[in-house]
Amino acid sequence: ITPLNVLHVHGVPLLIPSKEMWDKIYNFQARPDDLIVATYPKSGTTWMQEILDMIQNDGDEEKYRQVATFDRHPVIEVAFPHKEKPDLEIALEIPSPRILKTHLPSHLIPPSIWKQNCKIIYVARNAKDCLVSYYHFHRMTSLLADPQSWEDFCEKFMSGKVAYGSWYDHVKGWWDAKDKHQILYLFYEDIKKNPKCEIYKVLDFLEKTLSEDIINKIIHHTSFEVMSKNPMTNQTAVPSNIFDHTISKFLRKGMPGDWKNYFTVAMNEKFDEHYEKKMAGATLPFCTEI
Ligand code: A3P
Repeated sequence: ITPLNVLHVHGVPLLIPSKEMWDKIYNFQARPDDLIVATYPKSGTTWMQEILDMIQNDGDEEKYRQVATFDRHPVIEVAFPHKEKPDLEIALEIPSPRILKTHLPSHLIPPSIWKQNCKIIYVARNAKDCLVSYYHFHRMTSLLADPQSWEDFCEKFMSGKVAYGSWYDHVKGWWDAKDKHQILYLFYEDIKKNPKCEIYKVLDFLEKTLSEDIINKIIHHTSFEVMSKNPMTNQTAVPSNIFDHTISKFLRKGMPGDWKNYFTVAMNEKFDEHYEKKMAGATLPFCTEI
């Protein structure tokens, strides 16, 4: 399997086969009841999808467990080599209410999603852990080019020369967009620290209520421990020539603070200095500690 083609759209490297395909993606017709999960890669996308499936099915995983998370929610901008058709086409075929997923930066979102006023849940993860997770993901998937050394990959991440571009622009762009659209902006670290509180935010946003028992069930079912053992959520259903779990697991560590095992003191200083510049003026409250 060769890595997915990289097409630069307004300067952002996207995993799109051709300009024609991009035009189709940009012209995607959303439905008003679509729910969109938007993230920079490796920020807890799969986790949020599972939480949403549990919420939509009132905590009854039996209703959807035959299909793996990866196949339940099309990523509108990706055409996977192991699937018969691009996810965009799959999205057009599935009945409402759809849960769709995207890693696009806010300024490249198909305009129809804004026009239809779709609800969007954005999950952001602190840059350092996101970087470590993205590095391991590049190692284990044939969809992306080899990350080269850890140091090389850090440089690429910092300069936005990775798929979906700059983490800094992504989290800031969506943060600004939330004031103009129906966007619930959540943080990976908050979900980890207090899943109940964040699930209540999601329920409020979706205008739904569930009993305390069901919420506790959802928390258990979507914990890292349970999800990493569940073949429907740990991504082992994806063919091994796409995701090689012998190199690194998709559900790898599942906690904040793993970056400390990878950053040297010098690297950390350089990263922080660059971070201050890139995030100057931003009010985003990221947490990098456990
Ligand atoms: P790590 O590589 O740090 O372990 P995405 O789904 O956006 O690709 O994100 C994948 C990251 O989210 C991985 O991070 C994965 O382990 C983590 N993750 C997935 N499910 C999780 C859960 N239930 N709890 C905590 N982290 C989870």
